Amino acid sequence: MRLIMLGAPGAGKGTHALLLSKEYNIPQISTGDILRSHIKNETDLGKEAKNYMDKGLLVPDELVVEIVKSRIQEDDCKEGFILDGFPRTIPQAQALDKALEELGIGLDNVVNIDVSDEVIIKRMAGRRVCPKCGASYHVEHKKPIKDDICDECESELILREDDKEETVRKRLQVYEEQTKPLIDYYEKRGILLTIEGTGSVEEIGKKIKDALEVSK
Ligand code: AP5
Repeated sequence: MRLIMLGAPGAGKGTHALLLSKEYNIPQISTGDILRSHIKNETDLGKEAKNYMDKGLLVPDELVVEIVKSRIQEDDCKEGFILDGFPRTIPQAQALDKALEELGIGLDNVVNIDVSDEVIIKRMAGRRVCPKCGASYHVEHKKPIKDDICDECESELILREDDKEETVRKRLQVYEEQTKPLIDYYEKRGILLTIEGTGSVEEIGKKIKDALEVSK
């Protein structure tokens, strides 16, 4: 199965990509996570990406396209993959189409998680992440066992730099302008599944799985 998770920042793409990745035993490919790991390792790409990410702006298409093109050719992607946070612009979607065509494979579905801006702003303020292993929590909806400590590696959890309210509002504006047109792009192909993303993670997860089953 080859899927794209689409939706505004904080809509729940990462949460559900991880659950689907375990369910279908295919990798979750998050461009945000890959870029953050470059920042952590202080690579040239990481240094360049940080300038954009801290401001809530998109990293230039050519940088992320190259990351995804090489990642989807790795061995663990043979049975499928879930793209989480990519594509985010029409040129990225076109580059993905071209890469998939060259590989002789296609997309099965695009899951679009639809959540209002106000719910998103509240969610982001409560998100805490592990700077070491990248695990993600929420102060109300997904608490770690020990307050502010990662369950996986026991590091102290932090608020992501770009989760401050002002930056979240900028990210939402960038989403409206540059990413939302992808809804129409994939709707025209007949592979878009739009899921109302307000409610518990379990409820939304069930709606996504049901929609994927029906579309088979
Ligand atoms: P990225 O890391 O991809 O961030 P994003 O798309 O803005 O998405 P988030 O990770 O913030 O949210 P999400 O939708 O995954 O929600 P989550 O499940 O975590 O990108 C960061 C930056 O990298 C970008 O701004 C850009 O600069 C750059 N970048 C990345 N990809 C790029 C690309 N392709 N092109 C160019 N630049 C790129 O949930 C959020 C919170 O809510 C969590 O705390 C979670 O626990 C909680 N939550 C989830 N679901 C629910 C629920 N149902 N109820 C209550 N709480 C919930």
